[in-house]
Amino acid sequence: MPSDADRTRQYYDALGEREWTRLTDSVAGRVAFEVHRRFLARFVRAGDRVLEIGAGPGRFTLELAALGARIVVTDLSPVQLELNRRHVGPTDAERRVEQRIECDVRDTAGFGDGAFDAVVAFGGPLSYAFEEAEQAVRGLLRVVGPRGVVLASVMSTLGTWRQALPSVTGVAERVGDEVNDAVLADGDLRLIDRTEHACRMFRWRQLRDLVEQAGGRVVAASASNWASLGDPSVLEPLERDPDRWRHFLDNEVGACAEPGALDGGTHLIFAATSAA
Ligand SMILES: C[S@@+](CC[C@H](N)C(=O)[O-])C[C@H]1O[C@@H](n2cnc3c(N)ncnc32)[C@H](O)[C@@H]1O
Repeated sequence: MPSDADRTRQYYDALGEREWTRLTDSVAGRVAFEVHRRFLARFVRAGDRVLEIGAGPGRFTLELAALGARIVVTDLSPVQLELNRRHVGPTDAERRVEQRIECDVRDTAGFGDGAFDAVVAFGGPLSYAFEEAEQAVRGLLRVVGPRGVVLASVMSTLGTWRQALPSVTGVAERVGDEVNDAVLADGDLRLIDRTEHACRMFRWRQLRDLVEQAGGRVVAASASNWASLGDPSVLEPLERDPDRWRHFLDNEVGACAEPGALDGGTHLIFAATSAA
């Protein structure tokens, strides 16, 4: 039977180039990108050495390079790593890339203690670590040492329910309320089907507990979306007007950081440091 890592690798190898448009082909995706981008800019400084985990085709590799970071680019999927080379390679950002290597977020033992100023694991690598998520976070905190920061985002259980209401309701009809309730409680999509895109979603309090159990402390948090998971037909005209769009984004970023909004987006974003 294939392991969780094999299944995830196969999924992202097969997804290939379609991962490149995840954050551009819908208005909610474009807002999620902007919220992540601004979060990154709060913590990463020019000259920082950054370990990017689950970098995919490179949306945030380009952003890290623009911030002046030096980046070690990693991913579980060799296809995604190659796509990263294809998208970033021909740009000026490539000068900021130190290395590209395959790496599973569960195993960062090959990197030294405090070797990086920051780790960036956006778009869910920790959602694929399942039972080893605590060990994974512990490893990320170790490689940034006592002064560094871990920046990551994971899939949100409640935000996904909100965004994908028809499909979640369909799942409940297909697998029964008991299984669907267990998924809503634990976020573990393996309960539905191990052969599909299985990942672990989180509620905010579960994520905070995970970070604390791994010896960390959350220093900032945000949802990836708030109002932008609403009606796209309202948002798209707004997006065509640069001033009104900037104003909307400013309000959206503020709303996403409210404690009452953290569970409301497709992803939960956090910054964590060592608690010690
Ligand atoms: C949704 S994509 C996000 C890509 C990019 N970070 C972004 O936010 O646009 C998730 C990426 O994480 C990678 N990934 C999944 N599980 C992983 C794991 N256990 N360790 C490292 N990377 C993983 C996938 O191969 C994929 O490239």
